[in-house]
Amino acid sequence: MVLRRTTLALATLAAALQTPPRRSTRLRAAAGSKEWDLTLFSPAKINLFLRIIKKRDDGFHELASLFQAIDLGDDLSFEKLASGEADVLECSTEGMPLDASNLVLRAVSLLRDKCGADKVPGFRVLLEKQTPMQAGLGGGSSNAATALYGVNELCGNPASQAQLIEWSGALGSDITFFLGPTGSAFCTGRGEVLEPIAALPSTFKHVFVIKPYRGLSTPLVFKTLAASEYATLRTDVDPRVLLKSFGDASRSAPLMDYVNDLEPPSFACEPVLAEIKTKLLDKYGFHAAMMSGSGTSLFAVATGDEVDAAAFPAAFAAECKKELAVDVDVWPARFLGREEGEWYARGE
Ligand code: C5P
Repeated sequence: MVLRRTTLALATLAAALQTPPRRSTRLRAAAGSKEWDLTLFSPAKINLFLRIIKKRDDGFHELASLFQAIDLGDDLSFEKLASGEADVLECSTEGMPLDASNLVLRAVSLLRDKCGADKVPGFRVLLEKQTPMQAGLGGGSSNAATALYGVNELCGNPASQAQLIEWSGALGSDITFFLGPTGSAFCTGRGEVLEPIAALPSTFKHVFVIKPYRGLSTPLVFKTLAASEYATLRTDVDPRVLLKSFGDASRSAPLMDYVNDLEPPSFACEPVLAEIKTKLLDKYGFHAAMMSGSGTSLFAVATGDEVDAAAFPAAFAAECKKELAVDVDVWPARFLGREEGEWYARGE
């Protein structure tokens, strides 16, 4: 069943992507540096809803989620090395594993295994991180997707976009989303079955991402959900109905449509997340606030001027510290679309 749907989704996508990718006009040499052949933006994502459908026999969970790229993200710079040279990863953030276990290097290796070492030489990659880790923002997955796209471009596109999408699921569940054509997608299966949709209308005036310093590991959140015997899963909300609601440009989806089945297990692991959410909704009056992915990030959306957008980030961080004894980062964010045939570009 899952396989059949994967095939269907890929067939739809392959048709949409039949035209060979244009060389992006937004590809550029890294600013102020001649040594990089290409620098690309690697966006984060939020999940506007995330339903867990069931546990599968392979240990993963079947889900149905609306993914949206946002303009918070990292920069990845690439230098093409000589054929046979070893890949090298450099990173601006301390503590990031830089060995072959890193998803960026695994993405480069995957492309080389699939296309051949004659087409994919060694690469030096610089990762300049802004997206926090253990955040539910897909930071590592986005880096892997960006590496697949960038290395493929620099090698003259030995793989089609549909092949990148097909292969990416083997690296991780969220990577495929970022390779979709619009920056908005309904994802099912483990998360890797992609149904691209038209770029979502942003009916919001303001979007903020709130990230407590403490993180949560995705496997721990799923384990906690399993230990609860899935008692907290919503059974009354059909993901297709939610999808229609979020796609309606004439109004903002109501608060009750913001459903994330991973909130209860994550909130059980980190109870302060529930307190932050309550503050955002009840005290600040946001239209909606919800955790993204498996946390610990939350996002909050305002449809009008109910929030003083300029003052909010600093004021909310100070309030969380004072009243909840928790350190948080707060970023303003915007939905980020992807132009046809181009990679994501950082917003102005
Ligand atoms: O695929 P990814 O590396 O993102 O998954 C990390 C972990 O999260 C998996 O090993 C699994 O424990 C859990 N997971 C899951 N069901 C999913 C996605 C992730 O159980 N659909």
